[in-house]
Amino acid sequence: MSSRPKVFISRMIPQVGLDMVAEVAEMDVWPEQMPPAKSVIMERIADCEGLLSLLTDEVDGALMDAAPKLKVVSNYAVGFNNIDVDAATARGVLVGNTPGVLTGTTADLAWSLLMSIARRIVEGDKYVRARQWKTWEPQLLLGSDVYEATIGIIGFGRIGQAMARRAAGFDMRIVYTDIERNVEAEKETGAEFMQLDDLLRASDFVTIHTLLNDDTFHLIGAREFELMGPDSYLINSSRGPVVDETALYEALKNETIRGAALDVTEEEPIPDDSPLLELDNVVIVPHIGSASRQTRNKMARMAAANLIAGITGEPLPNCVNPEAAS
Ligand code: GLV
Ligand code: GLV
Repeated sequence: MSSRPKVFISRMIPQVGLDMVAEVAEMDVWPEQMPPAKSVIMERIADCEGLLSLLTDEVDGALMDAAPKLKVVSNYAVGFNNIDVDAATARGVLVGNTPGVLTGTTADLAWSLLMSIARRIVEGDKYVRARQWKTWEPQLLLGSDVYEATIGIIGFGRIGQAMARRAAGFDMRIVYTDIERNVEAEKETGAEFMQLDDLLRASDFVTIHTLLNDDTFHLIGAREFELMGPDSYLINSSRGPVVDETALYEALKNETIRGAALDVTEEEPIPDDSPLLELDNVVIVPHIGSASRQTRNKMARMAAANLIAGITGEPLPNCVNPEAAS
């Protein structure tokens, strides 16, 4: 029997994915909770044809050069800002991601964040556990209505559109912005296209669903918070650096906006001394947008399928840089 291709898997993904890979490759799986150091990945991939990476692994040209046989990097995520895709293409390395399967799950989480900050769910829970609940009070923990409010969706891809469908159920006015108008999606969701500044002025809830790239880095900062105004909320479940976090802290502290809810932060994990952690008008969860049992299994299957296709010379089911094959 000819020797089987080797792959490195940088964390314990759900077993369904590992089982698929085990059928075709000799696999080395990093067993720890914390990610392997870059130098460790470089050692472990030296004779690998495939790498299954997480969004916590920085995959750049130097790392890929440590694996001369590398054919594919399969990212266990829809986002791929942790991978230098140009460097991969230049080396003929295909890059896979996991779009589609996590759309509804991530929109569910973004929606939960929106509801939590609007109705002060986390503050309320803390209040009860602190044994402060004495009686029913006319002015206790007043929040903002979600139904019939205006939602502004930045980035109208799959997840942005899934947010629009949820918002429709709450009788919201739905506005969105993106690089291009999507008339099809407008018809389906009832969303109206706006330029970013107009969206920020019009919206009670601004929710971000873009990729992180040079154009979206710090897209939302001090100027944008001023446009949003004191009754508005920001939701971010995309990538932390799309928001200028120092400006966000100032805006929350000075009540330039009313609140924010974040699944992602500029640095992850958020530093222990981040001043955001001192504020009551922000909810922060640890990047769990796609974290449902069902979806993590689907992502494992998709990431395994991309990895297997890459090492066996088949087209990847979901490829970010198909031009790398030519
Ligand atoms: C998670 O953030 C992902 O990109 O899948
Ligand atoms: C994710 O699947 C997106 O493109 O929004």
